[in-house]
Amino acid sequence: MDKDLINEIKRHVNIVDVIGEVVSLTKTGRNFLGLCPFHGEKTPSFNVVEDKQFYHCFGCGKSGDVFKFIEDYRDLSFLDSVAVVAEKAGIQIAQPQQAERRQEVSPHQPLYDIHKAAADFYHTVLMTTKLGEKARHYLYERGLSDDMIKHFQIGLAPNEANYLYQALSQQFDEQTLLNSALFNPSENQMIYDAFQNRIMFPLADEYGRIVAFSGRIWTAEASANTQQAKYKNSRASLIFNKSYELYHLDQAKASIKKHHEVYIMEGFMDVVAAYRAGVENAVASMGTALTPEHVKHLSRFTQKVVLVYDGDKAGQAATAKALEELRDFVVEIVRLPDQMDPDEFIIKNSEEALAEFLAKQRLSPVEFLLYYLKPDNLDNLQAQIAFVEQMAPVIAQTPSITAQNTYIHKLAELLPDFDYNQVEATVNQVRVHQRQEFVQESRRPQGKQITEMPFLRQVSPLQRAENQLFNRMVHHAYILNDYRQKEEFQFISPELQTLYQSLSQQGEITSVELSQMDESVQQAWYMAMEEDLPEEVATDELYQIERTRQRELLKRDNRQTAQRIREQANAGDELAALEELNRLIALKRNME
Ligand code: CTP
Ligand code: MN
Repeated sequence: MDKDLINEIKRHVNIVDVIGEVVSLTKTGRNFLGLCPFHGEKTPSFNVVEDKQFYHCFGCGKSGDVFKFIEDYRDLSFLDSVAVVAEKAGIQIAQPQQAERRQEVSPHQPLYDIHKAAADFYHTVLMTTKLGEKARHYLYERGLSDDMIKHFQIGLAPNEANYLYQALSQQFDEQTLLNSALFNPSENQMIYDAFQNRIMFPLADEYGRIVAFSGRIWTAEASANTQQAKYKNSRASLIFNKSYELYHLDQAKASIKKHHEVYIMEGFMDVVAAYRAGVENAVASMGTALTPEHVKHLSRFTQKVVLVYDGDKAGQAATAKALEELRDFVVEIVRLPDQMDPDEFIIKNSEEALAEFLAKQRLSPVEFLLYYLKPDNLDNLQAQIAFVEQMAPVIAQTPSITAQNTYIHKLAELLPDFDYNQVEATVNQVRVHQRQEFVQESRRPQGKQITEMPFLRQVSPLQRAENQLFNRMVHHAYILNDYRQKEEFQFISPELQTLYQSLSQQGEITSVELSQMDESVQQAWYMAMEEDLPEEVATDELYQIERTRQRELLKRDNRQTAQRIREQANAGDELAALEELNRLIALKRNME
């Protein structure tokens, strides 16, 4: 691929946006900080440097530019990562390569294609037919506008046996038709559409590829028929796993990144309601169960979740369950009044009221559980004890001691037979217990962590001087030229020397070349680029760098000589030791 094109692609994206899609980043000073996606960590040490367009993790040492990030994060080749970034940049790259890449990225492309075709078909039926007009009125009544119908790509499955099949069977091969889960074969050789006379919500994966549908009944007759499920989902297929996909994630992604949090709701119409209220970072778990797969999926986008399950019993039980799954997240809970879901709330109140409620009425997990676990018969001493024992570990896990005290207070207030000190004593017991467990945990050998941290070393003065020198060479051609004249010049760091050879031969090092070098050489490049040097080269700067380099070199020589003297003296070789000593004296003089 042409290197100018690669540079052009790089210039058209901001690494902060690209990484921000998958790592939640917070601005700190001139840089952005987040949790490193390449090694498990709880305190952020992953740094994205916007003005230099690269990232560096102080924890595991990984660093690179936007291409390197995509390469490592998605486990792609360099060229594939360039193609991914090009797409983000909106830059067309050579056609054959793109086709090839698609193939490589997705062996299921025909299944995505047939879902796209089906979604278009359903949408057209909704927007242009007589039955569609009626169905649209149902949607208008529920507060949707045409713009929203379009945003959510809502459609209508016709009230016919197999109109979709007739429309698509010529365009797709038998295998694709069969695997799509859009049709049901029957004993009499007929093939039926899986969805009939339902309002169709397409379900997309995070990249916006439609992978399944959910159809809702909408006519009075169907609603009266208790045999019919309100919603019917596509059965599982090669591209659809209900435990993994979250409704609307593809469209919510950008807003999740912007707000550093995601709302999780139960249903389609709840996400639609949130959207009406201007809240775009909402997804639905499509029912009440939040699975570990959902949680893992979300962890790639944010560390903070706001749970907005229905206000009814099932919704509250699901909230308590979800809290267990979301242990590693910051969680807040919005408890809607009168057993309502967000969709009902917006009907009863207003769009503004929903927006305000979602933003302001948030409970911490402890506050939620205080309400949720509170026994009905609070006069019963046994029930009180059980309640305290359930709450104590949750309170003890709260990071802030001030918050813990508030919760202890609240809990004691609810209980006729407990005072503050008694509740506190129980919480303290748990604290001690948890601490013991923690100590045991940290005593376990943690080999893996140690091997993951080889880059946490301090930069020595010598390395720093060489990093700065190399940095100047990259950015100032005249400096590079000066050094090219010095034939005997060499970097002491073998990695920088490798880079220097390449640089002095070609005058520059491109992303492509860099990506082909050893990992350690790439690391050295970014370390050097990370040096924060002023724009202007100071008059004596290079002289100072050179001096540091010489001094550090001599020091190192000194140490080696001293070591040899000791060894030879130990081995009884007095003469050799004396010779080395003379050398050492000469060296020291030189240094002065
Ligand atoms: N659901 C489902 N299958 C069902 C029922 C529900 O997949 N048979 C999922 C849907 O995603 C639905 C969500 O669970 O949106 C919540 O269900 P429920 O609260 O019963 O429906 P609502 O979201 O309130 O739907 P509506 O407002 O359209 O009545
Ligand atoms: Mn509802």
